[in-house]
Amino acid sequence: MKIDIITIFPEIAEGPLNESIMKRAREAGQVEINCHDLREFTTDKHRQVDDEPYGGGPGMVMKPEPFFAAVESLKTENSRVLMMTPQGKPFEQSIAQELSDETHLIILCGHYEGVDHRVTEALVDDEISIGDYVLTNGTIASVIVVDAIVRLLPGVLGDATSAIEESFSGENGYLEAPQYTRPAEFKDMKVPDVLLSGHHRKIENWRREKSLERTRKIRPDLID
Ligand code: ADE
Repeated sequence: MKIDIITIFPEIAEGPLNESIMKRAREAGQVEINCHDLREFTTDKHRQVDDEPYGGGPGMVMKPEPFFAAVESLKTENSRVLMMTPQGKPFEQSIAQELSDETHLIILCGHYEGVDHRVTEALVDDEISIGDYVLTNGTIASVIVVDAIVRLLPGVLGDATSAIEESFSGENGYLEAPQYTRPAEFKDMKVPDVLLSGHHRKIENWRREKSLERTRKIRPDLID
């Protein structure tokens, strides 16, 4: 998979995507990620990417021309173009799963009060929000989306089962049961006996029960 991120802050994306599992996936060639500076696609002396909103109002709006130039230079017939925006569709595991099947993603990141709507209308396949809150820029959101997608690509997570038996993508989409590691007792807190029993069926039942209990308490909206 190839991912092109278009932003006025390429370093914000480059930092987190150049550590740990993302870094390894890039080095292993499981994903190619390019963080482009939107200003590279301007043609004026001041490399201007924003301007005042028509109709008035606070803040600045991102100009269409650099986004059009960027997408026109990067897009192929296999590309899917995403726009990070709080006005988008809420991002969730099923969307990460669907996007992980694509061969080329181009991710446009907004800033300021928004992006000229002609960009969205003419260039964008999906507008995506990472949640009902407003960030200072979409680049931070793009990193989250890229991380969630790349970890699903074949071979990226060493242990193939770890992407399956976890919250949201397990058999029923419930939250994961609590996990413990050594020591078995710490500051008077004991690991549940069943996890030390070696009894696989009992452990499985316990996890299913805890998963349901936790989901009911914290995310009742995930239960039918
Ligand atoms: N840009 C600013 N806030 C955002 C959000 N919640 N999701 C995606 N992009 C954003």
